[in-house]
Amino acid sequence: MDAIRLGIVGVGTVSLRGILPHLSQSDVRDRVRVQALVDPVGERAEAAAAQFGVPTYFTDLDDMLDHGEVDAVSIASPIGLHFEQGLRALEAGKHVHFNKTMCTTVEEADALIEAARRNGVHIVASPGEVLLPQVTRVRELIAEGAIGRLAWALCGCAFGQYHEREEERLSPPGGRPIDPAWYFRNPGGGPMYDMTVYALHRLTSVLGPARRVTAFSGQAVARREFMGLGVDAEADDNTIGIVDFGDSTYAVVYGAPAGMRAQEVGGVRYFGTGGTIEDTLLNGEPFDFPGREFLDNASAGDYAAPKRLLPHVVGPHLSLPEPHVYEDVMQLVDWARDGKASPVTAEHARHVVDIIESAFRSARTGEAQELRTTFDHPSSQARREAVGT
Ligand SMILES: NC(=O)c1ccc[n+]([C@@H]2O[C@H](COP(=O)([O-])OP(=O)(O)OC[C@H]3O[C@@H](n4cnc5c(N)ncnc54)[C@H](O)[C@@H]3O)[C@@H](O)[C@H]2O)c1
Repeated sequence: MDAIRLGIVGVGTVSLRGILPHLSQSDVRDRVRVQALVDPVGERAEAAAAQFGVPTYFTDLDDMLDHGEVDAVSIASPIGLHFEQGLRALEAGKHVHFNKTMCTTVEEADALIEAARRNGVHIVASPGEVLLPQVTRVRELIAEGAIGRLAWALCGCAFGQYHEREEERLSPPGGRPIDPAWYFRNPGGGPMYDMTVYALHRLTSVLGPARRVTAFSGQAVARREFMGLGVDAEADDNTIGIVDFGDSTYAVVYGAPAGMRAQEVGGVRYFGTGGTIEDTLLNGEPFDFPGREFLDNASAGDYAAPKRLLPHVVGPHLSLPEPHVYEDVMQLVDWARDGKASPVTAEHARHVVDIIESAFRSARTGEAQELRTTFDHPSSQARREAVGT
Protein backbone atom coordinates (compact mmCIF):
# COMPACT_ATOMS: atom_id res chain seq x y z
CA MET A 1 0.00 0.00 0.00
CA ASP A 2 1.16 3.57 -0.72
CA ALA A 3 2.59 5.82 1.96
CA ILE A 4 0.11 8.08 3.79
CA ARG A 5 0.47 11.66 2.52
CA LEU A 6 0.49 13.92 5.57
CA GLY A 7 -0.15 17.65 5.85
CA ILE A 8 1.17 19.50 8.89
CA VAL A 9 -0.90 22.42 10.18
CA GLY A 10 1.34 24.86 12.05
CA VAL A 11 5.09 25.02 11.44
CA GLY A 12 6.05 26.02 14.96
CA THR A 13 8.24 24.59 17.69
CA VAL A 14 6.87 21.06 17.89
CA SER A 15 6.81 20.64 14.11
CA LEU A 16 10.38 21.90 13.70
CA ARG A 17 11.82 20.09 16.72
CA GLY A 18 9.80 16.87 16.55
CA ILE A 19 7.42 16.05 13.74
CA LEU A 20 9.55 17.07 10.73
CA PRO A 21 12.88 15.60 11.95
CA HIS A 22 11.18 12.24 12.70
CA LEU A 23 9.14 12.06 9.52
CA SER A 24 12.08 12.94 7.27
CA GLN A 25 14.00 9.83 8.39
CA SER A 26 14.38 7.28 5.59
CA ASP A 27 12.99 4.36 7.65
CA VAL A 28 9.42 5.76 7.54
CA ARG A 29 9.40 6.68 3.85
CA ASP A 30 7.33 3.69 2.73
CA ARG A 31 4.66 4.36 5.39
CA VAL A 32 4.27 8.15 5.56
CA ARG A 33 5.61 11.20 3.82
CA VAL A 34 5.04 14.83 4.60
CA GLN A 35 3.29 16.23 1.54
CA ALA A 36 2.43 19.79 2.61
CA LEU A 37 2.90 22.39 5.34
CA VAL A 38 0.50 25.17 6.36
CA ASP A 39 1.34 28.27 8.37
CA PRO A 40 0.12 31.87 8.05
CA VAL A 41 3.78 32.85 8.40
CA GLY A 42 4.54 31.99 4.78
CA GLU A 43 8.30 32.49 4.95
CA ARG A 44 8.52 29.93 7.77
CA ALA A 45 6.43 27.36 5.90
CA GLU A 46 8.45 27.91 2.74
CA ALA A 47 11.85 27.69 4.44
CA ALA A 48 10.84 24.60 6.47
CA ALA A 49 9.50 22.90 3.33
CA ALA A 50 12.86 23.51 1.64
CA GLN A 51 14.82 22.33 4.71
CA PHE A 52 12.86 19.08 5.14
CA GLY A 53 12.16 18.32 1.46
CA VAL A 54 8.38 18.83 1.66
CA PRO A 55 6.84 19.24 -1.84
CA THR A 56 4.36 22.06 -1.11
CA TYR A 57 3.44 24.69 1.45
CA PHE A 58 0.36 26.88 2.00
CA THR A 59 -0.61 29.83 4.18
CA ASP A 60 -4.26 28.79 4.36
CA LEU A 61 -5.68 25.47 5.60
CA ASP A 62 -8.55 25.32 3.12
CA ASP A 63 -6.09 25.70 0.23
CA MET A 64 -4.16 22.74 1.54
CA LEU A 65 -7.29 20.65 2.02
CA ASP A 66 -8.41 21.48 -1.53
CA HIS A 67 -5.08 21.30 -3.37
CA GLY A 68 -2.50 19.71 -1.08
CA GLU A 69 -3.15 16.06 -2.04
CA VAL A 70 -3.05 14.85 1.55
CA ASP A 71 -4.72 11.80 3.14
CA ALA A 72 -4.21 12.93 6.74
CA VAL A 73 -3.20 15.98 8.75
CA SER A 74 -1.34 16.57 11.99
CA ILE A 75 -2.67 19.67 13.75
CA ALA A 76 0.27 21.47 15.40
CA SER A 77 -1.17 24.97 15.70
CA PRO A 78 -2.19 26.83 18.91
CA ILE A 79 -4.68 24.77 20.95
CA GLY A 80 -7.49 27.33 20.56
CA LEU A 81 -7.50 26.64 16.80
CA HIS A 82 -7.57 22.84 16.99
CA PHE A 83 -11.33 22.38 17.01
CA GLU A 84 -12.13 24.52 14.01
CA GLN A 85 -9.15 23.27 11.95
CA GLY A 86 -9.72 19.65 12.91
CA LEU A 87 -13.39 19.85 11.99
CA ARG A 88 -12.56 21.31 8.57
CA ALA A 89 -10.03 18.56 7.90
CA LEU A 90 -12.44 15.80 9.01
CA GLU A 91 -15.24 17.25 6.87
CA ALA A 92 -12.79 17.22 3.94
CA GLY A 93 -12.38 13.46 4.49
CA LYS A 94 -8.89 13.59 6.07
CA HIS A 95 -7.69 11.49 8.99
CA VAL A 96 -6.58 13.77 11.84
CA HIS A 97 -3.85 13.61 14.46
CA PHE A 98 -4.31 16.27 17.14
CA ASN A 99 -1.30 17.42 19.08
CA LYS A 100 -2.44 17.86 22.63
CA THR A 101 -4.94 19.05 23.51
CA MET A 102 -7.57 17.92 20.97
CA CYS A 103 -9.92 20.84 21.78
CA THR A 104 -11.07 22.82 24.80
CA THR A 105 -14.69 21.72 25.46
CA VAL A 106 -16.72 18.51 25.51
CA GLU A 107 -19.16 20.04 23.04
CA GLU A 108 -16.30 20.50 20.55
CA ALA A 109 -15.03 16.97 21.20
CA ASP A 110 -18.51 15.54 20.53
CA ALA A 111 -18.62 17.38 17.19
CA LEU A 112 -15.17 16.11 16.16
CA ILE A 113 -15.99 12.50 17.04
CA GLU A 114 -19.27 12.71 15.15
CA ALA A 115 -17.58 14.30 12.10
CA ALA A 116 -14.96 11.51 11.99
CA ARG A 117 -17.71 8.88 12.18
CA ARG A 118 -19.78 10.57 9.46
CA ASN A 119 -16.81 10.92 7.12
CA GLY A 120 -15.38 7.44 7.71
CA VAL A 121 -12.00 8.73 8.93
CA HIS A 122 -9.97 8.30 12.13
CA ILE A 123 -8.77 10.58 14.92
CA VAL A 124 -5.69 9.98 17.05
CA ALA A 125 -5.54 12.50 19.88
CA SER A 126 -2.25 13.01 21.73
CA PRO A 127 -0.84 12.36 24.23
CA GLY A 128 -0.72 8.56 23.95
CA GLU A 129 0.41 7.92 27.52
CA VAL A 130 -1.65 4.72 27.45
CA LEU A 131 0.97 3.16 25.12
CA LEU A 132 3.78 3.34 27.68
CA PRO A 133 4.73 -0.07 29.16
CA GLN A 134 5.41 1.49 32.57
CA VAL A 135 1.83 2.83 32.66
CA THR A 136 0.40 -0.64 31.95
CA ARG A 137 2.58 -2.06 34.73
CA VAL A 138 1.38 0.55 37.23
CA ARG A 139 -2.21 -0.36 36.38
CA GLU A 140 -1.43 -4.04 36.98
CA LEU A 141 0.44 -3.38 40.23
CA ILE A 142 -2.47 -1.40 41.66
CA ALA A 143 -4.98 -4.06 40.52
CA GLU A 144 -2.81 -6.77 42.14
CA GLY A 145 -2.88 -4.88 45.44
CA ALA A 146 0.85 -4.03 45.44
CA ILE A 147 0.14 -0.84 47.41
CA GLY A 148 -2.89 -2.15 49.31
CA ARG A 149 -6.07 -0.20 48.85
CA LEU A 150 -5.43 2.84 46.64
CA ALA A 151 -6.51 5.98 48.51
CA TRP A 152 -5.36 8.90 46.43
CA ALA A 153 -2.97 10.12 43.74
CA LEU A 154 -1.11 13.33 43.00
CA CYS A 155 -0.13 14.62 39.59
CA GLY A 156 0.21 17.75 37.51
CA CYS A 157 2.71 20.07 36.00
CA ALA A 158 4.37 23.43 36.41
CA PHE A 159 4.36 25.85 33.49
CA GLY A 160 7.48 27.64 34.65
CA GLN A 161 8.95 29.61 31.72
CA TYR A 162 9.21 26.57 29.47
CA HIS A 163 7.64 28.07 26.36
CA GLU A 164 9.30 31.50 26.62
CA ARG A 165 12.67 29.73 26.66
CA GLU A 166 12.32 27.14 23.88
CA GLU A 167 15.35 27.87 21.70
CA GLU A 168 13.59 26.92 18.43
CA ARG A 169 11.50 30.08 18.82
CA LEU A 170 14.40 32.49 18.43
CA SER A 171 15.64 31.92 14.87
CA PRO A 172 13.49 29.34 13.08
CA PRO A 173 13.54 28.74 9.32
CA GLY A 174 12.44 31.92 7.54
CA GLY A 175 13.83 34.07 10.35
CA ARG A 176 10.70 35.34 12.12
CA PRO A 177 10.67 34.33 15.82
CA ILE A 178 7.82 32.05 16.92
CA ASP A 179 5.75 34.01 19.43
CA PRO A 180 4.54 31.88 22.39
CA ALA A 181 1.89 34.48 23.47
CA TRP A 182 -1.00 32.11 22.67
CA TYR A 183 0.17 29.81 25.50
CA PHE A 184 -1.00 32.54 27.92
CA ARG A 185 -4.29 33.49 26.24
CA ASN A 186 -7.80 31.98 26.02
CA PRO A 187 -9.06 29.68 24.68
CA GLY A 188 -6.55 26.90 25.12
CA GLY A 189 -3.81 28.73 27.03
CA GLY A 190 -2.43 27.85 30.46
CA PRO A 191 -0.75 24.75 31.90
CA MET A 192 -3.90 22.61 32.21
CA TYR A 193 -4.49 22.22 28.46
CA ASP A 194 -0.83 22.22 27.49
CA MET A 195 0.94 20.22 30.20
CA THR A 196 -1.37 18.76 32.87
CA VAL A 197 -3.04 16.98 29.96
CA TYR A 198 -0.13 14.46 29.99
CA ALA A 199 -0.67 13.70 33.67
CA LEU A 200 -4.43 13.36 33.20
CA HIS A 201 -4.03 10.94 30.30
CA ARG A 202 -1.59 8.91 32.35
CA LEU A 203 -3.76 8.94 35.47
CA THR A 204 -6.90 7.90 33.59
CA SER A 205 -4.94 5.26 31.64
CA VAL A 206 -4.27 3.66 35.04
CA LEU A 207 -7.50 4.38 36.97
CA GLY A 208 -10.02 4.62 34.12
CA PRO A 209 -12.76 7.21 33.76
CA ALA A 210 -13.41 9.63 36.64
CA ARG A 211 -16.79 10.68 38.05
CA ARG A 212 -16.58 14.24 39.44
CA VAL A 213 -14.25 17.22 39.70
CA THR A 214 -13.91 20.21 41.99
CA ALA A 215 -11.27 22.94 41.72
CA PHE A 216 -9.93 26.37 42.51
CA SER A 217 -8.34 28.33 39.70
CA GLY A 218 -6.80 31.73 39.13
CA GLN A 219 -3.85 33.61 37.73
CA ALA A 220 -0.50 33.89 39.48
CA VAL A 221 1.72 35.44 36.76
CA ALA A 222 -0.03 38.27 34.90
CA ARG A 223 2.86 39.29 32.69
CA ARG A 224 5.26 37.11 30.73
CA GLU A 225 8.25 38.03 28.60
CA PHE A 226 9.51 36.86 25.22
CA MET A 227 12.66 38.25 23.59
CA GLY A 228 12.65 41.25 25.92
CA LEU A 229 9.03 42.19 25.19
CA GLY A 230 6.18 41.94 27.70
CA VAL A 231 3.29 39.55 27.06
CA ASP A 232 0.02 40.15 28.93
CA ALA A 233 -1.24 36.81 30.23
CA GLU A 234 -4.96 36.11 30.28
CA ALA A 235 -5.43 32.38 30.90
CA ASP A 236 -5.50 30.86 34.39
CA ASP A 237 -2.08 29.49 35.28
CA ASN A 238 -2.77 28.29 38.83
CA THR A 239 -5.41 25.56 38.93
CA ILE A 240 -5.67 22.95 41.69
CA GLY A 241 -8.39 20.34 41.40
CA ILE A 242 -9.65 17.16 43.07
CA VAL A 243 -10.86 14.37 40.81
CA ASP A 244 -13.21 11.75 42.25
CA PHE A 245 -12.80 8.26 40.77
CA GLY A 246 -15.58 6.76 42.88
CA ASP A 247 -15.33 4.38 45.84
CA SER A 248 -13.64 7.15 47.89
CA THR A 249 -10.59 7.25 45.62
CA TYR A 250 -9.34 10.73 44.71
CA ALA A 251 -6.59 12.48 42.78
CA VAL A 252 -5.19 15.94 43.39
CA VAL A 253 -4.37 17.46 40.01
CA TYR A 254 -2.60 20.73 39.34
CA GLY A 255 -1.55 23.02 36.50
CA ALA A 256 0.46 25.72 38.19
CA PRO A 257 3.34 28.14 37.71
CA ALA A 258 5.45 26.05 40.10
CA GLY A 259 5.60 22.38 41.05
CA MET A 260 6.98 19.35 39.26
CA ARG A 261 9.18 20.44 36.34
CA ALA A 262 8.10 20.14 32.70
CA GLN A 263 10.54 17.24 32.28
CA GLU A 264 8.62 15.27 34.88
CA VAL A 265 5.31 15.76 33.11
CA GLY A 266 3.33 12.59 33.40
CA GLY A 267 4.86 11.47 36.68
CA VAL A 268 2.03 10.37 38.96
CA ARG A 269 2.28 9.47 42.65
CA TYR A 270 -0.14 6.84 43.98
CA PHE A 271 -0.69 6.41 47.71
CA GLY A 272 -2.24 3.20 49.04
CA THR A 273 -2.78 1.69 52.47
CA GLY A 274 0.16 -0.67 51.81
CA GLY A 275 2.66 1.52 49.98
CA THR A 276 3.28 4.08 47.25
CA ILE A 277 4.11 4.18 43.57
CA GLU A 278 6.02 7.24 42.40
CA ASP A 279 6.44 7.23 38.65
CA THR A 280 8.51 4.01 38.14
CA LEU A 281 9.33 3.29 41.80
CA LEU A 282 7.35 0.97 44.06
CA ASN A 283 8.00 1.87 47.70
CA GLY A 284 11.19 3.59 46.55
CA GLU A 285 12.49 0.59 44.59
CA PRO A 286 12.47 0.26 40.78
CA PHE A 287 9.73 -2.10 39.55
CA ASP A 288 10.11 -4.20 36.42
CA PHE A 289 8.45 -3.58 33.04
CA PRO A 290 9.51 -4.04 29.40
CA GLY A 291 12.19 -1.37 28.83
CA ARG A 292 13.25 -0.93 32.48
CA GLU A 293 16.88 -1.71 31.61
CA PHE A 294 16.90 0.86 28.80
CA LEU A 295 15.56 3.46 31.19
CA ASP A 296 18.09 2.59 33.90
CA ASN A 297 20.93 3.04 31.42
CA ALA A 298 19.64 6.31 29.92
CA SER A 299 21.68 9.41 30.71
CA ALA A 300 20.38 11.51 33.61
CA GLY A 301 19.84 14.51 31.32
CA ASP A 302 17.68 12.62 28.80
CA TYR A 303 14.27 13.74 30.00
CA ALA A 304 12.58 12.10 27.01
CA ALA A 305 14.01 8.65 27.92
CA PRO A 306 10.72 7.30 29.37
CA LYS A 307 9.00 8.15 26.07
CA ARG A 308 11.63 6.23 24.10
CA LEU A 309 9.94 3.00 25.24
CA LEU A 310 7.04 3.64 22.85
CA PRO A 311 6.54 0.99 20.15
CA HIS A 312 7.53 2.98 17.02
CA VAL A 313 10.49 4.67 18.67
CA VAL A 314 13.37 2.62 17.23
CA GLY A 315 16.51 3.23 15.14
CA PRO A 316 17.12 6.92 14.42
CA HIS A 317 13.98 7.93 16.37
CA LEU A 318 15.62 6.85 19.63
CA SER A 319 17.89 9.89 19.59
CA LEU A 320 15.49 12.56 18.28
CA PRO A 321 13.46 14.95 20.47
CA GLU A 322 9.70 14.56 21.04
CA PRO A 323 9.56 10.75 20.53
CA HIS A 324 6.00 10.64 21.90
CA VAL A 325 4.75 13.07 19.27
CA TYR A 326 6.25 10.85 16.55
CA GLU A 327 4.63 7.80 18.15
CA ASP A 328 1.18 9.37 18.05
CA VAL A 329 1.55 10.39 14.39
CA MET A 330 2.52 6.78 13.59
CA GLN A 331 -0.52 5.51 15.48
CA LEU A 332 -2.65 7.42 12.97
CA VAL A 333 -0.53 6.26 10.03
CA ASP A 334 -1.02 2.61 11.04
CA TRP A 335 -4.74 3.14 11.48
CA ALA A 336 -5.25 4.98 8.18
CA ARG A 337 -2.93 2.74 6.17
CA ASP A 338 -3.39 -0.73 7.66
CA GLY A 339 -6.69 -0.41 9.54
CA LYS A 340 -4.90 -1.01 12.86
CA ALA A 341 -7.07 0.80 15.41
CA SER A 342 -5.12 2.85 17.96
CA PRO A 343 -5.83 2.90 21.71
CA VAL A 344 -4.97 6.64 21.62
CA THR A 345 -8.58 7.55 21.10
CA ALA A 346 -10.60 10.73 20.70
CA GLU A 347 -12.98 9.37 23.39
CA HIS A 348 -10.14 9.24 25.93
CA ALA A 349 -9.05 12.75 24.93
CA ARG A 350 -12.66 13.95 25.30
CA HIS A 351 -12.77 12.59 28.86
CA VAL A 352 -9.59 14.48 29.74
CA VAL A 353 -11.03 17.65 28.15
CA ASP A 354 -14.13 17.04 30.29
CA ILE A 355 -11.99 16.95 33.47
CA ILE A 356 -10.19 20.19 32.54
CA GLU A 357 -13.31 22.05 31.39
CA SER A 358 -15.23 20.85 34.46
CA ALA A 359 -12.40 21.97 36.76
CA PHE A 360 -12.64 25.50 35.37
CA ARG A 361 -16.46 25.42 35.66
CA SER A 362 -16.19 24.23 39.26
CA ALA A 363 -13.78 27.06 40.06
CA ARG A 364 -16.23 29.59 38.58
CA THR A 365 -19.36 28.21 40.24
CA GLY A 366 -17.91 26.94 43.50
CA GLU A 367 -19.65 23.59 42.95
CA ALA A 368 -18.38 20.09 42.20
CA GLN A 369 -19.08 19.05 38.60
CA GLU A 370 -20.31 15.63 37.46
CA LEU A 371 -18.36 14.39 34.43
CA ARG A 372 -20.58 13.31 31.58
CA THR A 373 -18.06 11.45 29.40
CA THR A 374 -16.34 8.10 29.60
CA PHE A 375 -14.07 5.91 27.48
CA ASP A 376 -13.25 2.23 27.13
CA HIS A 377 -10.74 1.05 29.70
CA PRO A 378 -9.96 -2.26 31.46
CA SER A 379 -11.39 -0.80 34.70
CA SER A 380 -14.70 -0.03 32.94
CA GLN A 381 -14.89 -3.67 31.89
CA ALA A 382 -14.15 -4.83 35.46
CA ARG A 383 -16.83 -2.46 36.79
CA ARG A 384 -19.37 -3.72 34.23
CA GLU A 385 -18.61 -7.31 35.21
CA ALA A 386 -18.90 -6.46 38.93
CA VAL A 387 -22.43 -5.14 38.47
CA GLY A 388 -23.32 -7.89 35.97
CA THR A 389 -23.99 -5.74 32.89
N1 LIG B 1 6.32 23.10 22.22
C1 LIG B 1 6.22 21.89 22.78
O1 LIG B 1 7.03 21.52 23.63
C2 LIG B 1 5.14 20.94 22.36
C3 LIG B 1 5.37 19.56 22.55
C4 LIG B 1 4.36 18.66 22.18
C5 LIG B 1 3.15 19.14 21.68
N2 LIG B 1 2.96 20.50 21.55
C6 LIG B 1 1.66 20.94 21.04
O2 LIG B 1 1.83 21.28 19.68
C7 LIG B 1 0.97 22.37 19.33
C8 LIG B 1 1.79 23.51 18.81
O3 LIG B 1 2.67 23.93 19.84
P1 LIG B 1 4.02 24.70 19.48
O4 LIG B 1 4.77 24.84 20.76
O5 LIG B 1 4.67 24.09 18.32
O6 LIG B 1 3.41 26.14 19.09
P2 LIG B 1 4.23 27.34 18.46
O7 LIG B 1 3.78 28.59 19.08
O8 LIG B 1 5.69 27.04 18.51
O9 LIG B 1 3.83 27.30 16.92
C9 LIG B 1 2.50 27.44 16.48
C10 LIG B 1 2.55 27.63 14.98
O10 LIG B 1 1.22 27.67 14.50
C11 LIG B 1 1.15 28.71 13.55
N3 LIG B 1 -0.22 29.15 13.35
C12 LIG B 1 -0.88 30.19 13.93
N4 LIG B 1 -2.11 30.29 13.41
C13 LIG B 1 -2.23 29.30 12.49
C14 LIG B 1 -3.27 28.91 11.60
N5 LIG B 1 -4.43 29.55 11.57
N6 LIG B 1 -3.05 27.85 10.78
C15 LIG B 1 -1.88 27.19 10.80
N7 LIG B 1 -0.86 27.53 11.62
C16 LIG B 1 -1.03 28.56 12.46
C17 LIG B 1 2.09 29.78 14.09
O11 LIG B 1 2.48 30.71 13.08
C18 LIG B 1 3.25 28.93 14.56
O12 LIG B 1 4.16 28.69 13.53
C19 LIG B 1 0.19 22.68 20.60
O13 LIG B 1 -0.99 21.94 20.58
C20 LIG B 1 1.09 22.18 21.71
O14 LIG B 1 0.37 21.85 22.88
C21 LIG B 1 3.94 21.40 21.85
